[in-house]
Amino acid sequence: MATVPLPAAAAPSLRRAIMAWGWIAVVGQLLFLGYIIALYAPPLVTGDFIRWSRGGHAIDAYVPGDRTGNIQFGLHILLAAILTLGGLLQLSPRLRARLPAVHRWNGRLFVVAAILASLGGLWLVWVRGSRLNMASATAITLNAALILAFVILAVAAARRRDFAGHRRWALRAFLAVSGVWFLRVGMMAFALIGIGLLGLPKQSAQAFFAVWSFGSTLVPLLLLELTFRATGGAQRALSYGFWLLSALTAVGIAGAAALMWWPHL
Ligand code: HEM
Repeated sequence: MATVPLPAAAAPSLRRAIMAWGWIAVVGQLLFLGYIIALYAPPLVTGDFIRWSRGGHAIDAYVPGDRTGNIQFGLHILLAAILTLGGLLQLSPRLRARLPAVHRWNGRLFVVAAILASLGGLWLVWVRGSRLNMASATAITLNAALILAFVILAVAAARRRDFAGHRRWALRAFLAVSGVWFLRVGMMAFALIGIGLLGLPKQSAQAFFAVWSFGSTLVPLLLLELTFRATGGAQRALSYGFWLLSALTAVGIAGAAALMWWPHL
């Protein structure tokens, strides 16, 4: 099973905190994968495709009569499953060390899947019209653009045999691909802590969504850049930050699992 990749010069306290966050995220991503399979795979056997729309949280999903849109949506979900599992496997230092050929082939699959999921996702948003509003459509478009840029830069670095650069771009690509997962987990953490615990009004979820639809892509990337650059006291501060994040992520995952994913598992 995957262990979490760590910055080479990280202090032990920071390594522990990142490991804790990483393992919580692995559990959360596996639950998301379980949801994707449990909700979207059975109609492939039963033919009851309307279940995609009734059971899930998508905007359009299956629309009777919209053959192209339905196929694009189905492909998007298949690619989402490949990316969620493939991303976790790809980050495993153990797999990289013991089975480098698997790492290389899984990496190629991840790159192709990330490019197709981003382009197909853009088609769903801008051609099919599966969008809540312009702001969230712009946010997911930024996410797609960053995924495309990062996977291309990760491949280019590997081709140059710049392995440190490859690792950095691959981590950025992984976090950008995980943007849709951060969006769900962050929304649920806000619902449970912000609204449930702190008593913020329910309507504040909309304002948080407007900010977090961008933040779910940008905040993890910002934290990664800080982690790459931090030294000394900044690493200690970051390690406290990662413990706090671990707790918030665990709450968000628990909420998403209980309210969005578990009903389908
Ligand atoms: C690359 C990682 C991505 C993953 C893992 C992923 C995953 C998913 C999943 C699981 C759904 C179904 C909704 C649900 O049941 O919660 C979905 C729907 C959707 N995704 Fe993605 N997605 C990714 C990237 C993107 C990108 C980059 C875009 C747009 C540029 C996009 C656009 C959409 C749209 C528009 C829908 C809703 C379709 C509808 O409501 O009919 N996705 N995605």
